[in-house]
Amino acid sequence: SPTPLKVAVTGAAGQIGYSLLFRLASGALTGGAPIELRLLEITPALKALEGVVMELDDCAFPSLAGVEIGDDPEKIFDGVNLALLVGARPRGPGMERGDLLSANGAIFTAQGKALNKVAADDVRIGVTGNPANTNALIAASNAPDIPKERFSALTRLDHNRAISQLAAKTGAAVTDITHMTIWGNHSATQYPDLFHAQVGGRNAAEVVNDQEWVESYFIPTVAKRGAAIIEARGSSSAASAASATIDAARDWLYGSAENDWVSMAVVSDGSYGVPEGLVSSFPVTTKDGDWSIVQGLEIDEFSRGRIDASVAELEDERNAVQELGLI
Ligand code: NAI
Repeated sequence: SPTPLKVAVTGAAGQIGYSLLFRLASGALTGGAPIELRLLEITPALKALEGVVMELDDCAFPSLAGVEIGDDPEKIFDGVNLALLVGARPRGPGMERGDLLSANGAIFTAQGKALNKVAADDVRIGVTGNPANTNALIAASNAPDIPKERFSALTRLDHNRAISQLAAKTGAAVTDITHMTIWGNHSATQYPDLFHAQVGGRNAAEVVNDQEWVESYFIPTVAKRGAAIIEARGSSSAASAASATIDAARDWLYGSAENDWVSMAVVSDGSYGVPEGLVSSFPVTTKDGDWSIVQGLEIDEFSRGRIDASVAELEDERNAVQELGLI
C-alpha cells in the first residue's frame, strides 16, 4: 500500500479541528489514499484531544493510517508533508492588537523553527489561525531552510463565501462560478473581486450589472461574514473554515481545476503592485504542490483602491511584527 501522507494539524482539539480531523481522516484531502495525522495541542488541551482521537478510532476510517498526538512541535512535525497551522491565540477581552500579535508571534516563531528542523523536504504549510497572513509571514521568516513559497495563509473560505453569494444573487449553481479572486488580507479589508469572476463563462460584474449591490452588499457581506456567523451561531465559523482548509490544501497538492483559478495568500513577488515579501491573497493556479500568480489581469481604479487598502493593512501588520522582533 502507498506511503501515507503525513499531515500535521495544530490546535487539533479546537472547534475547527473537530470538523477538520474527521474530513481529513475520511479521505477528503487524499481522495481516499492513506493519511497519517499528527496532532499538536497545548498541554492543557491534550486530554480533550485524547477524546477526539477516541472518536476518530470509533469511525474506523479505512484511509486513516495512524494518529499521533503531543505538545512538542519538534516531535509532531517530524517528517510531515503538510502542516495545517490552525491553532492560534484568539483575541481576549481587553487585548490590544500588539498583545495579539505577540501572543501569536510566539506560537508561529516556535512552529516555524520546528518545521525548519524536522519537516519532510517536500513540506507545504497552510496557515488558518489568525491573523493568518501575518502568522504565515512569521512562520516563514523563522524557517530559513524552507522556501517561502511553501507557506500560504487561508483565504479560501472568503473565496468560497464569495462564490456562494454570487451564485445566490445570479441564480447560478456554485459550479457555474469561476475565476473568483480574494485580494489582500484575510480580514475585513479583503477585496472580493467580481470584475474577473465569471458566471457560466460570462463576466460576473456584467451579469450582475449593479455596482451598488457590489459595493454595498456583496463586498461587505463576504468580508464580514465571520462576524455574522459569530452573531448567529454564538461561536466563530468552524466547519466552513475546516472545509476551506481542505479545499486549499487539496488544490495546492493535487492541482487546481483547468480553466479556473483559486485564491491563496502567498508571498508576493511584486505582482499587481503588492510589495515583495508580503503574504497577500492573489488569484493563483496550482499544480503538483506549486502555485503561480495569475498574471496580466487588468485592474481598474475601483479594484486598485480596494487592493491598496488591504495591502496597506498588511504592511502595518508586518511593521508591527518587525518592531516586536518576530521577523
Ligand atoms: P479554538 O479556540 O476552538 O481552537 C484553537 C485551538 O488551538 C485550541 O484548542 C488551543 O488549545 C489550540 N492552541 C493554542 N495555541 C496552540 C499552540 N501553540 N500549539 C497548538 N495548539 C494551540 O479556535 P478555532 O475556532 O478552532 O479557530 C482556530 C483559528 O482559526 C483561530 O485563530 C481563528 O481565528 C482562525 N480562523 C481562521 C479562518 C480563516 O478563514 N483563515 C476562519 C475561521 C477561523
